[in-house]
Amino acid sequence: MRRIEVYGLPQVVSPEMLSGKLVVVIDVLRATTVITNALANGADGILIARSVEEAKMLAATHNGLLAGERDAIMIEGFDFGNSPLEFTSDKIFRRKIVLTTTNGTSTLLSAGSGERLVAACFNNISSIVKFILHNRQDVVIICSGTNGKFSLDDALVAGTIICKLAKEQEFVPDDQALALKILADKGTLACQTLILETAHARRLISLGFNNDIEFCLRVDNSNVVPIWNGMAFVKNA
Ligand code: MLT
Repeated sequence: MRRIEVYGLPQVVSPEMLSGKLVVVIDVLRATTVITNALANGADGILIARSVEEAKMLAATHNGLLAGERDAIMIEGFDFGNSPLEFTSDKIFRRKIVLTTTNGTSTLLSAGSGERLVAACFNNISSIVKFILHNRQDVVIICSGTNGKFSLDDALVAGTIICKLAKEQEFVPDDQALALKILADKGTLACQTLILETAHARRLISLGFNNDIEFCLRVDNSNVVPIWNGMAFVKNA
């Protein structure tokens, strides 16, 4: 039977733990929602950078647009911040985007040693579940957290994925997967309401990003599964 494990923070994950696994990374507020939405709106690929300098270098090499934030605020001189609503098709169609964020992108980079890596959020949750069901590997879900601290928003997306999977196939969960399944069994609406109370959501609201939160909590408005191809996230075929 397939196993499903959850890590609440990327810092506790090493490459050996991911080898041969299907890895699902979640940073629902807002990096994985940005990646999903930018691909849905026609971006050619999303490259990931750990630092601002690396992002600039990659953008120069690939004629890419620069996107990202530090502490939720857009980086000076960049084309976009980290709001999913900014990535409209008129601005990004057939363009490569280089993204660097405070937590999400370093989690994605540290997860690249899995056999397959996908980016999940509420926007694409049913498509992610289908993707997992159609694969045979054991699953590792990595939540990005915020500055090294557990983030309930990412964990509730993980729990919702596990609840949906459990309705379709039997998985062997680790204790964290089991705990999150029990929590998310309250239903998606309860999870969304709880997310509004999280530290990260409250910070984004205090900065005026209310519309972003509303967008990030939408369920299944996209069927895009962002897949890592070794260089960038690209849309599933
Ligand atoms: C991150 O990667 O830390 C987040 O996406 C931060 C944010 O909401 O901008």
